[in-house]
Amino acid sequence: MRRPIMLFNQVCSSALSYRFSPLAVQNLLQIKRCIRMNSWFKKRLDFGNYQVIETPGQVLQELRCVPSTIMKPPYAQDGKKIPVPVPESTKPEIKSHTQIDGMRASCRLARNALIYAKELVMVGTTTEEIDKNVHKYIISHGAYPSPLHYKGFPKSICTSVNNVVCHGIPDNRALVNGDIINVDITVYLNGFHGDVSETFLVGDVDEKGRELVAVTKKCLDEAVAICKPGRPFNHIGEQRAVIEACAREHGFRVVPAFTGHGIGSYFHGAPDIYHFKNTVLGLMEAGQTFTIEPAIAQGSSQCIILEDKWTAITSDGSRAAQFEHTVLITESGVEVLTSK
Ligand code: MF3
Ligand code: CO
Ligand code: CO
Repeated sequence: MRRPIMLFNQVCSSALSYRFSPLAVQNLLQIKRCIRMNSWFKKRLDFGNYQVIETPGQVLQELRCVPSTIMKPPYAQDGKKIPVPVPESTKPEIKSHTQIDGMRASCRLARNALIYAKELVMVGTTTEEIDKNVHKYIISHGAYPSPLHYKGFPKSICTSVNNVVCHGIPDNRALVNGDIINVDITVYLNGFHGDVSETFLVGDVDEKGRELVAVTKKCLDEAVAICKPGRPFNHIGEQRAVIEACAREHGFRVVPAFTGHGIGSYFHGAPDIYHFKNTVLGLMEAGQTFTIEPAIAQGSSQCIILEDKWTAITSDGSRAAQFEHTVLITESGVEVLTSK
């Protein structure tokens, strides 16, 4: 059983240990109050026709093996539990041409793995099966699936269904007609991580669900489009409030607890990318690579982390969708490293 353990109602950085940020963690009493409040809230709002994930399926103990010939990230060296190193610099790294080529290759593989995953998404398939097959795909292309053993994550990809915001652990629940599912894939190829995700429709999704998914994609695309050297990072969430404005226009909310992040030889590093209105300083510069990954909810922007310490669900059971790209800032604008 995956019971709730903590509530996140404000931002916490994914570059720092976001799961345990004191900023974001409130006590259990507050969670109970919030759930009571939200069940009242739920009665008054109709988020559409879908299965609410209250207790996720069972996570199978099956081991995911990676051949010894494949280069592993530092946190996944065989037989040892190495903590994820805290990134040394709080300044976004400017990548060399060689590093950029490395990022292009890992991001291309991540995209191809996601295209492969999309074919597996159908009524009746379990998220465990999707994970198992995508794992095989990634290792057969010479890469390591970055989530595996990252801060204790037990599987190779994240699969987040309906009211699960993100970091869902693949399990034995079979997809049902009308589900929406985010598949988030990160690969570590020749020393570089590439990170991408999309939310897919399973069979016939109701109109409210389809709108949520379309708007979330639009939020990401609009945010990517404004990226260029000299652009403040906070224009992604603020100024013309690209993402937040887009979400609100449709009556949806940005889930603030999850941020985009710098990426490279490390999975999560500077800068933190906030998807909501903020005044955090910093300008984009050519040579930076980072992700933009807005999670947008139909209802409450608060989320609860289940006892497995990963699965984030909305506090009111409304659905959430997420899309993610890894981008490179170029001299003239932006290159979407994880585009098709
Ligand atoms: N891929 C997620 C991101 O976009 C991170 C997943 S961490 C994991 O940042 F351990 F859950 F895999
Ligand atoms: Co991701
Ligand atoms: Co990411």
